[in-house]
Amino acid sequence: MPKETVLNKVENYLQYQKERGDKFVLKPSTAPPKKVKVDNINIIPKPAIIQNIPSKLGDWQNATTLAELKLAIYECKECPLGNQRNKFVFGEGNPNADIMIIGEAPGRDEDLQGMPFVGRAGQLLTKILESIGFNREDVFIGNICKCRPPENRQPETGEVDKCEPYLKKQIELINPTFILSLGLTSINTLLKTKNKMADIRGQVLDYQGKKLLVTYHPAALLRNPNWKRFVWEDMKNLKTLYEEHLKTK
Ligand code: URA
Repeated sequence: MPKETVLNKVENYLQYQKERGDKFVLKPSTAPPKKVKVDNINIIPKPAIIQNIPSKLGDWQNATTLAELKLAIYECKECPLGNQRNKFVFGEGNPNADIMIIGEAPGRDEDLQGMPFVGRAGQLLTKILESIGFNREDVFIGNICKCRPPENRQPETGEVDKCEPYLKKQIELINPTFILSLGLTSINTLLKTKNKMADIRGQVLDYQGKKLLVTYHPAALLRNPNWKRFVWEDMKNLKTLYEEHLKTK
């Protein structure tokens, strides 16, 4: 057998080990090459490269309930995040909520449990809601992106573009009076702006006919507890607006 073919076969085998993730990978020896009886080498065929599993989407545009929508999109793999996630995080809460809360994207805990805001930031969000007399079940909690970006990085434009239509459909079905954006990724995605928090906090904005407010993301509060007082102000403001809204019902 020609020498080149032997080398190719060894290279192929090393590549195969690497792709399989073997811990003990044969390394090319620095010792002078031994003669190898090629005919006895049992070359294992390379496995086919694992293809991304195609997206399985139902007719989500025509969903008439959140349950139908979830069923239609939970196997979404329209962007790379879909192939890396453990669980699709649809969002949860009251399907007829007056208040919808929108974060950025699931983190590690959310990805493992399939529920939004269940990690440290989520526990803080629960406390923030309770501070103005709400339970998580009173509101609907969702995210701009439904799958976890690696290392909790910000979702990329392409990922947001694929996921945002699902959020819009959720908003259409829930039809909340108020939307509370948590953090700049959330508000700037909805408004297609590049605002800074100081410029927009405290305002009542419009998002497709809903009253849109913004406050700091709870993860930011964990990093900078000084901002808690701003969140407290924003939450009191939301509560006041909500109570006024109840009087008009
Ligand atoms: N941060 C978010 O923005 N969303 C979650 O669900 C969890 C953490």
